[in-house]
Amino acid sequence: MKIPFFKTAITGEEQKYISQTLADGKFFAERPFIAKCETWFAKNHGLSNFFLTKSCTHSLELAALALDIKTGDEVIMPSFAFVACANAFALRGAICVFVDVHPDGMAIDETKIEAAITNKTKAILTLNYAGVACNYEAIKRIADKHQLYIIEDNAHGVGAKQGDKFLGNFGDVSTFSFDHLKNISCGQGGGIAIKNEKLLENFFVHYEFGTNRRNFFKGKADRYEWKNLGSNFPLSELNAAMLFSQLENIEKINGRFVELWNLYHEKLDNLQTQGKITLPNPPIESIHNAHCFFIKTKDEEERNALVKFLTGKEISAQFHYTPLHSSEFGLKAGKFSGEDVFTTSESKRLLRLPLYYNMSITELEEVVSALLSFYK
Ligand SMILES: Cc1ncc(COP(=O)(O)O)c(C=O)c1O
Repeated sequence: MKIPFFKTAITGEEQKYISQTLADGKFFAERPFIAKCETWFAKNHGLSNFFLTKSCTHSLELAALALDIKTGDEVIMPSFAFVACANAFALRGAICVFVDVHPDGMAIDETKIEAAITNKTKAILTLNYAGVACNYEAIKRIADKHQLYIIEDNAHGVGAKQGDKFLGNFGDVSTFSFDHLKNISCGQGGGIAIKNEKLLENFFVHYEFGTNRRNFFKGKADRYEWKNLGSNFPLSELNAAMLFSQLENIEKINGRFVELWNLYHEKLDNLQTQGKITLPNPPIESIHNAHCFFIKTKDEEERNALVKFLTGKEISAQFHYTPLHSSEFGLKAGKFSGEDVFTTSESKRLLRLPLYYNMSITELEEVVSALLSFYK
């Protein structure tokens, strides 16, 4: 494709830290870039218990372990979500209870959560779609009233804010992605923040193979042994070296995403005024990170025709997600609560346009011009 859907941001400064890691060989015990990244999140985003993982998928699986999710427990989540959001809990034998989304930003509709709560409900999973916060004030009220945990999937929202708080601060546990398709990337990586400190001690056991290794290395245990379920969740030092460089450049990287996002919005506004497409419209208090730019077409048929038209011009545009409850495995692992008013219909209209750090204005204008000629 002449204009790809995404390219991982490379600022040019990553090489320095990667070379330093290779030269120093500190891959175990003392892992300076792991420490630097984790301290960075504590210092800059108020996440004092932030830990790097190999992926956001792993972070979600770790969240399910940390919350002690068991067979028969129920976890409420949007059906418009990535498969890892549901898999993490299905793997523990839990039932995914899908709830409808708001039609504009595709965030879980907080007004439909209470009706989905039963005496088996353990947690609510929220997804900051496109780096835009959910209505955490309302969700927190519901979670407190029913004594439920909040798992905030912030895979998309690194560097985005709601009011004066960075996303990732709204869950008992929050998860992050630094995979190749995210604004801030280390090729493949993730993070988890434990805001609810009561979960911390168990968390460390699950995080490090299911052992008390952390306490052993700190001299707090005389033996290092198997304590509970776990896996090899921590990220590698080499990936952390790349990630730290990107974190140092987060304003530059996210700033470019926002610049391109605003330009798309401005240049496509006329198509929206003519009633041909719908543009994203994040709430004013949400300082998003422009993780993705999506438009909504009239219906699925028009979206598919548009994808074909853009492909013919060597422009890659993609849609996601196939709602989990209508996927092959979705109804085996869960159920939809209430009516699916917007999840299916809105997801069928949604199309993500190419957007990446190194995208030139000329490339963006080419995408816009293709859209204008499709709708002429
Ligand atoms: C909302 C959401 N959660 C989790 C993930 C999984 O992220 P990772 O690729 O880091 O495992 C993704 C992947 O894109 C995602 O979109």
